[in-house]
Amino acid sequence: MHSHFTIAHLSDIHLAPLAAFWPNYWNAKRFLGFANWVMRRRRSHLRAVVDLLVSDLRHQGVDHIAVTGDLVNIGLPQEYETALLWLHTLGPPDRVSVVPGNHDIYTRLRRHSGVGRWARYMESDDWGAELAPGSGPRFPYVRRIGKSIALVGLNSAVPTPPGIASGEVGAGQIRQCRDLLRELGRMDLFRLVMIHHPPLVSQIRPGRDLRDAAALESALVDAGAELVIHGHNHRDMVSWRTSASGPMAVVGIASGSIGRVHRHEPLARYNIYRIMPAGAGRPWRIELIGRGIREPDGPVVQVERRWLEPVLAE
Ligand SMILES: [Fe+2]
Ligand SMILES: [Fe+2]
Repeated sequence: MHSHFTIAHLSDIHLAPLAAFWPNYWNAKRFLGFANWVMRRRRSHLRAVVDLLVSDLRHQGVDHIAVTGDLVNIGLPQEYETALLWLHTLGPPDRVSVVPGNHDIYTRLRRHSGVGRWARYMESDDWGAELAPGSGPRFPYVRRIGKSIALVGLNSAVPTPPGIASGEVGAGQIRQCRDLLRELGRMDLFRLVMIHHPPLVSQIRPGRDLRDAAALESALVDAGAELVIHGHNHRDMVSWRTSASGPMAVVGIASGSIGRVHRHEPLARYNIYRIMPAGAGRPWRIELIGRGIREPDGPVVQVERRWLEPVLAE
């Protein structure tokens, strides 16, 4: 048994192609999304880049892979099938955890289960089911990784009108999340929280933000978590908060598929978090290793390596 655990974090892969856009799926939201894809995003979100990252990731021997949403683009049934096949290439459901993004729960779907197709990647394991009862995709879900880590998956995605990419966790999920984190803290586990939208207040402009970020942030701070990971901004960002049980790192990551620069969004990367016990008053240490491409068509290399050290506002 090794003394550290490694979690890979990949997000916002926005898989192509957008196939089978039949008339019964047409609505204003999808038309806008489709136009945005055809005119802009398809030139920057490249499947070949995702494949490059995943093949590099396979050689890193990580214990678990966390995918923080936006696997697809405009919520077409065919996109969910493509994404499911991609998840199978990443690993079995007990090695890969997913939370949905706003592009995954995009608009109302009839006669298709949508993100339900990925249910096995978004549900509690047997251990977690005792803490968070319920079957199928039900948020928050809880999983145990090795002997020390508890993973809590939140859903921040809700269908929204055209041009809006905001999210909402909801009072019920926030309450359960607070209770769960307290209980997992009592068990002395490392608490890793996954969510698509940035979970803190003022991390992103209105219209793209988490509408109940204030309530979620106060629940996270009250109950405590060691590491919160998110996507959505397509940018690398690290914030800190002082939670009831010590420093809480909040880490956002670039898209895992950007192969050509798009609106100053950085090129594709994924993170590896090496989590280990620290002892002496500070229970955990986290090392962040970023791997990605430095230039279009470039190979995957290490782009960052550092200890996550708290930087707390006065
Ligand atoms: Fe995204
Ligand atoms: Fe998003």
